[in-house]
Amino acid sequence: MSSVVRFSRLLAPAMVRHRLMSNFRPEKALSLSSVSDDHSVWYDYSLNNSEQFWGDLAAERLRWRRPFDRVTDCDMERGIFRWFDGGQLNVCENVVDRHVTTDPDKVALIWEKDEPGEEERVTYKELKSMVCRLANVLKSQGVKKGDRVAIYMPVSPLAVCSMLACARIGAVHSVVFAGFSAEALRSRIDDAQASVLITADEGVRGGKTIPLKATVDKALEGTAAVNRVLVMTRTGNVVPWNTERDIRMEDAMALVSESCEAETMDSEDNLFLLYTSGSTGRPKGIAHTQAGYLLYASLTHELVFDYKPGDIFACVADIGWITGHSYVVYGPLSNGATTVLFESIPTYPDPGRYWEMVSRLKITHFYTAPTAVRLLIKAGDEHVHKYDRSSLRLLGCVGEPLNVEAWQWYNLVVGDARCPVVDTWWQTETGGIMIAPKPAPNGVKPKPGYPMIPFLGIDPVLVNEKGEIITENDVSGLLCVRKPWPGMARTIHGDHNRFLDTYFSRFPSLYFTGDGARRDRDGYYQITGRVDDVINVKGHRLGTAEVESAIDEHPDVAESAVVSFPHDIYGEGIYAYVILKDTGDLHSQTEITDSIKNIVKHRIGSFAVPEVILLTPALPKTRSGKIMRRVLRKVAANEADDLGDVSTLADPSVVDVIKKRHIETANNY
Ligand code: WTA
Repeated sequence: MSSVVRFSRLLAPAMVRHRLMSNFRPEKALSLSSVSDDHSVWYDYSLNNSEQFWGDLAAERLRWRRPFDRVTDCDMERGIFRWFDGGQLNVCENVVDRHVTTDPDKVALIWEKDEPGEEERVTYKELKSMVCRLANVLKSQGVKKGDRVAIYMPVSPLAVCSMLACARIGAVHSVVFAGFSAEALRSRIDDAQASVLITADEGVRGGKTIPLKATVDKALEGTAAVNRVLVMTRTGNVVPWNTERDIRMEDAMALVSESCEAETMDSEDNLFLLYTSGSTGRPKGIAHTQAGYLLYASLTHELVFDYKPGDIFACVADIGWITGHSYVVYGPLSNGATTVLFESIPTYPDPGRYWEMVSRLKITHFYTAPTAVRLLIKAGDEHVHKYDRSSLRLLGCVGEPLNVEAWQWYNLVVGDARCPVVDTWWQTETGGIMIAPKPAPNGVKPKPGYPMIPFLGIDPVLVNEKGEIITENDVSGLLCVRKPWPGMARTIHGDHNRFLDTYFSRFPSLYFTGDGARRDRDGYYQITGRVDDVINVKGHRLGTAEVESAIDEHPDVAESAVVSFPHDIYGEGIYAYVILKDTGDLHSQTEITDSIKNIVKHRIGSFAVPEVILLTPALPKTRSGKIMRRVLRKVAANEADDLGDVSTLADPSVVDVIKKRHIETANNY
């Protein structure tokens, strides 16, 4: 500890320290609890003295085994992203052991199982023992520091333990959302070369069982990477079993010790990979490292959500997405919080589920996706009014724009206009929340439809197509980030050049988010949506190219083009234009559309199945053969009267054919 204090003193040169202390009372300076009182001073300080800002926070907030030598070594142009070099720590020790020392009997996890009223609680002490046992099982199966472990599990304490057990022994976890198909799982296992996979016999969601182990077996038929499968018992039903490969997790955990020394990790060792969609068909294994990610998840969790000890924090995202990583697991646990693991769906057993859970568990923070809010608006206010929501203090949202109508409903009906609605913008690649209405200067209230304010240390800029930074307010542009931050992704697994190409080459020295945004007159940010071929559907992020490559596998398909269209509930719906090799009669076309949907379901998962498949003899292409997606998007959005300039199309008559088919198809779905 003394070395940490010494180091932190060394880190902040006397003058900067002096400045810090003259602006803030010293005892508050590092806790940031007064950030709203001096928001602009804090924000300017975080940008202009970022080394001191992040360095002091890292030294104070994380438990180090060896202090770091250097706060940051980043160069967006050369593709170098390093934070807290020379430092050593263990993330699991930071999020579990620390709290066992101070408050062993505090509840760390509340597992809200699919059936309401069957919740289970796990204290920090119990969590440590489970994590250590699981870590010892992994070790006994030969998993070593740096090895990749795939996790394909329902939201559950053992899923969290699997992530933390990896962190404890220095293995790199790759959680794959348990709604992905066998093929999607296999491609992610192959890319990561995971040697061990952790799963459950079955999942349970909305009263239905999901055959997880059977899906895993199918995925593993096509890959030699995995040699061991650990299976958690969720339903206890009989599932296919390979005695040479499969191990019952609970049996194995009972046989090993409940203590396991945490591995010493370098700040920049990998913590996890998380696959996400981009503009090509191949998912990207986004890599996050230890100290920077943890610091950022921890700080944003505390300040954006105004987390206080004793709060019950419910982020209902699946652990298969970054939201689950940062705000179900690492952020809340790093702050010693009680975090809710939500296994079910918003409409089971009825659309009052969330609010019944809020009242039963006395939830203080509720964080969900706009698509769920819109779904519940349709179901009617009575499902909300029925339950006592007085425990709620803050309502959060992430994943896609929260439209004003949904914002108002969330604010008035759910929050009784009492709880701030915090619309948070961020990405898998950013590790944590980047723009949010909190922390805000005193007196500034959340603005409907706006994430609003950059987080401390975050320097967003809007650029035009030429890459020029737009400095005025009341403008739209492409959203980039100018300064590196500790939570940023470090690379794409196995393909650093793709990482640089995707995020850093379009606008030199800027991180390009792929989103468009508006900055209003007051300087507040609103996100207008993706400007690339990524769509956000039902709260899931999906590349149109991924859906196209699945569709193109159909033997009768010659070519396809997938776009999104505005959807009342899902935010965006998936619209596929498909050219068949042989155009058959209408009846067989219906069969073909069904079988195309089936292929997408099997290749990716049911959430990726297009709402509309339009069979067409041709696609609108320029003379150089490029599909004019703008036209396809307009037609899909029922905006075909305003197609703009189509004179560069090789055959403009295609547009009329597509418009006609769209109207016919629209009548059929
Ligand atoms: C979108 C989710 C509008 C955006 C944490 C981003 C949002 C993508 C918001 C990342 C928001 C996320 N308002 N759009 N508050 N939050 N997005 O990687 O397009 O699954 O680029 O991370 O979701 O999705 P991802």
